Amino acid sequence: MSILSIDQLQLAGKKVFIRVDFNTPMKDGKVSDDTRIRAALPTIKSAVEKKAKVILASHLGRPDGKANKKYSLEPVGARLAELLGCDIKMADDCVGDGVRLLVSSLKEKEILLLENLRFHPEEEENEDNFCKALAALCNVYISDAFGTAHRAHASTAGMVKYVQEKAAGYLMQKELKFLGGVLKNPERPLVTILGGAKVSDKIAVVENLARKSDTLLIGGAMAYTLLRAKGVAVGTSKVESEKLQMAQNLLERLKSTDAKVILPIDHIVAPNPDAISEVMTTSGETIPDGMMGLDIGPRTQTSFCDVIKKAKMVFWNGPLGMFEKPAFSAGTYKIANAMIASGAVTVVGGGDSAAAVEKAGIASKFSHVSTGGGASLEFMEGRELPGVKALE
Ligand code: 3PG
Repeated sequence: MSILSIDQLQLAGKKVFIRVDFNTPMKDGKVSDDTRIRAALPTIKSAVEKKAKVILASHLGRPDGKANKKYSLEPVGARLAELLGCDIKMADDCVGDGVRLLVSSLKEKEILLLENLRFHPEEEENEDNFCKALAALCNVYISDAFGTAHRAHASTAGMVKYVQEKAAGYLMQKELKFLGGVLKNPERPLVTILGGAKVSDKIAVVENLARKSDTLLIGGAMAYTLLRAKGVAVGTSKVESEKLQMAQNLLERLKSTDAKVILPIDHIVAPNPDAISEVMTTSGETIPDGMMGLDIGPRTQTSFCDVIKKAKMVFWNGPLGMFEKPAFSAGTYKIANAMIASGAVTVVGGGDSAAAVEKAGIASKFSHVSTGGGASLEFMEGRELPGVKALE
């Protein structure tokens, strides 16, 4: 079923509720990473240009259904005002008389940011009266909150049926276009790179992407669990010992997919992540006793980059080593740069890999870097996201 774009709706003079995902990292009461705020700007600006009365709503953190200053969206409002260069009105709640009054006095082109939706337990419970109260604030519902679209909450799903008009904002559309493109009509060869700590978190993603991809490259700590399940010694590397059977079953099932699955053939290792002077490279896939795998080795880096070079589309989720430490970041950044140089359509899943490319200042060089962590993983598993379904 199709989803309307914000471009297809008349917004002038209407009260337009935009669900954004402003769940941003905070430090000392300030936004420490404004990626998600910047990602929502095109939609907000467009609503303002079209003379809407803009109501922005988001959650921040997990305040357990209680108002808590620590999770107030006020600092987010302050950063948004800086980025837009205009005033943002701030509500001290997201429902109730005070909010209704603020909304009714809102003029065209003005922006009101509601307070954290999760200060009410009814948000996560998707409680019907709460859904109706949110819906009563507006005439139009726009979702730009891809990062929260895997949650069936009042503001992401429940309220939508009570609003006359609904559509996707630009960020939501971009996420669906690129992540959906990998799953539905990929350019070939499609290469998928998966890393990160736990294979158990990614079983469904690995399987779904193995069905779609021509080649699947696996690194990061999840590769140690898979290697161990194959009977390879991996020293003291991070292994999910209780998940070895699950990993073995996964490897078995992967044999019947068309994708070529490639695990690391060498590793950068050390006795522990801080023993920088004792870092060495293994000669093969085996990791010696007392050593811990912390990045893919140079031969693996080269072979992964060679595969990426020939790709027409690359999807990447999860760092290939402990990239936060320079001694173990080569694998992650080499494959990131190989993606950029490949000329392929390049899509980076959210979470740690998005953080890695942001940190390196190269995010803008990819076709798309997802703002969704859990949401992008669930989407790539092939699951229907409640926040997307609600827009159909
Ligand atoms: C996220 O950061 O992944 C989203 O904002 C969802 O947050 P949640 O995991 O607290 O629901």
